[in-house]
Amino acid sequence: MPRKILVTSALPYANGSIHLGHLVEYIQTDIWVRFQKMRGNTCHYVCADDTHGTPIMLRAEKEGITPEQLIARVWLEHYDDFHAFHVAFDNFGSTNSVENRECAVTIYNALKAKGLIEVRSIEQYCDPLKKMFLPDRFIKGECPKCHAKDQYGDNCEVCGAAYAPTDLINPFSAVSGAVPELRHSNHHFFKLSAPSCQQFLREWTRSGSLQAEAANKMQEWLGAEGENKLTDWDISRDAPYFGFEIPDAPGKYFYVWLDAPVGYMGSFKQYCTIKGINFDEYWLQGSDTELYHFIGKDILYFHALFWPAMLQHAGFRTPTKLFSHGFLTVNGEKMSKSRGTFITARSYIDHVKNTEYLRYYYAAKLNGSMEDLDLNLDDFVARVNSDLIGKYINIASRSAGFISKRFEGKLANHALLAQCADTSGLTGKLIEDNPKKNLLELLQDASAQIAELYEARDYSRATRQIGALLDVINAYVDATKPWELAKDPSNVEWLQGVCSVALQAFRIVTIYLKPVLPHLAMDVASFLKVSELQWEDAQTLLPEGHGINAYQHLMSRLDPKCIEAMVEANRESLQTTPAVTQQAAATPEQAKPKAATTSVQIGDATLPLKKPDANISPVAETISIDDFNKIDLRVARIVNAEHVEGADKLLKLTLDIGEAQPRTVFAGIKSAYDPERLVGRMTVMVANLAPRKMKFGMSEGMVLAASSEAPGLFVLSPDAGAQPGMRIK
Ligand code: 2FM
Ligand code: ZN
Repeated sequence: MPRKILVTSALPYANGSIHLGHLVEYIQTDIWVRFQKMRGNTCHYVCADDTHGTPIMLRAEKEGITPEQLIARVWLEHYDDFHAFHVAFDNFGSTNSVENRECAVTIYNALKAKGLIEVRSIEQYCDPLKKMFLPDRFIKGECPKCHAKDQYGDNCEVCGAAYAPTDLINPFSAVSGAVPELRHSNHHFFKLSAPSCQQFLREWTRSGSLQAEAANKMQEWLGAEGENKLTDWDISRDAPYFGFEIPDAPGKYFYVWLDAPVGYMGSFKQYCTIKGINFDEYWLQGSDTELYHFIGKDILYFHALFWPAMLQHAGFRTPTKLFSHGFLTVNGEKMSKSRGTFITARSYIDHVKNTEYLRYYYAAKLNGSMEDLDLNLDDFVARVNSDLIGKYINIASRSAGFISKRFEGKLANHALLAQCADTSGLTGKLIEDNPKKNLLELLQDASAQIAELYEARDYSRATRQIGALLDVINAYVDATKPWELAKDPSNVEWLQGVCSVALQAFRIVTIYLKPVLPHLAMDVASFLKVSELQWEDAQTLLPEGHGINAYQHLMSRLDPKCIEAMVEANRESLQTTPAVTQQAAATPEQAKPKAATTSVQIGDATLPLKKPDANISPVAETISIDDFNKIDLRVARIVNAEHVEGADKLLKLTLDIGEAQPRTVFAGIKSAYDPERLVGRMTVMVANLAPRKMKFGMSEGMVLAASSEAPGLFVLSPDAGAQPGMRIK
């Protein structure tokens, strides 16, 4: 009986571009879904944009558009990106939909009816200028532990400490710069601490719905039997907020993370209406369908605790399994804007074009675990060219021409195939393990094992297994040498047989690779003049005398220059204030230093911002232009930036100012900058400052940064186009 399966990938936020990190998950899921469909199962794959919350609201405000306009624009971008990477959702919706509102309200009402919603007053920071409560990430200040400035309200990026926003020293709103005020507000909580939730989650953890690593995490969160470690979950936010208003609580909105997973249901509901599918069959308790969520390990908490508990207590079915994966690293390191390895899907499409290269590479590395996956760009080029072109495509390109030119595109009869497919004379483990099988039988026999590996999401072993088959086919072509056979007319029959074996083999392997390379498989199907390939088609051969089309090039080699250009295009020389402030600020105006601003107009009200500085106090006597000209200010490229062992405030910078040797400068900017974010960026340095011997080494100059009494430290940058060594005067 075909299985009935519903599959989801995590919903991308509607305020950012899809990047190669996101694509690990979408490609992983899409391969699995395509495999299920090829097996004849009924499999629906849905996703949606995650559209609600403060960052989206502020981003729209910053762009001077409505949140609805922003999410509509981003939806189209996301849709195009997914399409280009052959990520074939059956429905790509939006959490800001009628269907999603309906599902969220149904769940909320059901939880409320069960006594699992509680309203409590909480104290939270509020921005007095914007008149809005501030999420932790929108409050900044000095770390209470290490005193690094400009740290987020939930944890310090310098020392890693976790704390509450109220622990920050000199907190300020990252939205307006104002000093936040603590205010009381009623919030709605989902009572995760209720015994029924705890009990259910313990059982669910044991039910096999989680990978071992995830189940261990759950044990940690749940604590030992009898312990009650779970706390209630705050599911409401106050206006202004972009989201769904809670039905019986005007001015209160569902927190974005409440209606985000509900978005899986909302998107599916939309699809059911279009296709006439029974929504309840997939979602009501007691459903015999399967439900799988592919997610990143960072959002396990939401999917393994809140989501199943909500579903269970609202009368819905719970997920069959959560499939968590690790993060993407590029060249062994976290993706980095300054190194150009924070690569957007769009720039990959623009520079590399063929998105199946990446699908193949990710497949070759994904093993169904929660381990991180590394995209090594050199290895990427090498593998695409050696495996896909060298081993796979070449099978067709080395045999198809003879069939077209010598045999009017007709394949050999099966008796001849059987004779020609003999593997005696070939060596290797696969041959030795299967001495009685001819080449085509050997390929057909691999089907079950490869299918098991796809099912287990161990694509890495599946592609290795397919790679071993490709090696055997290539060894066969090398041994039979069609190009030699073609020289002697007495070998004509043998030539047709051998080339037909190679093409039949090529077709079988294409079936195995189709979940990974769907577009290529379609081209192969049209070259071989067959209809859409299904998994079970591997067990039959193309009929005797089957006619194929003339071979047209199926895939080209990947030129490493495309990769270099892509990395260059993604390299950001950070020219502005730290990105955090930039992202959090609602308008460009608000991103400016605040010290000199006296008031801000909000609606009809003029609100004081900060006491005006009557004057700036002079730092020295007036100087002449000749005095100023003595300072040799140069444009410098930060070629490296690193922490200095034992130094609280310093970063060690390596600066290129166009000299033979780069300069080393120790700069007191550690509190404001993550060194990684500085690499590649242009700045300004004093090049003729007397070198200074410091505890950590010689400092050969100084970089310029702005600061004041207000929090924040801002390294200077020249405008785009300035080159290292240019004089500043
Ligand atoms: O972490 C994220 O990117 C979220 N937008 C994922 C949401 S997944 C689901 F719960 F909607
Ligand atoms: Zn700290």
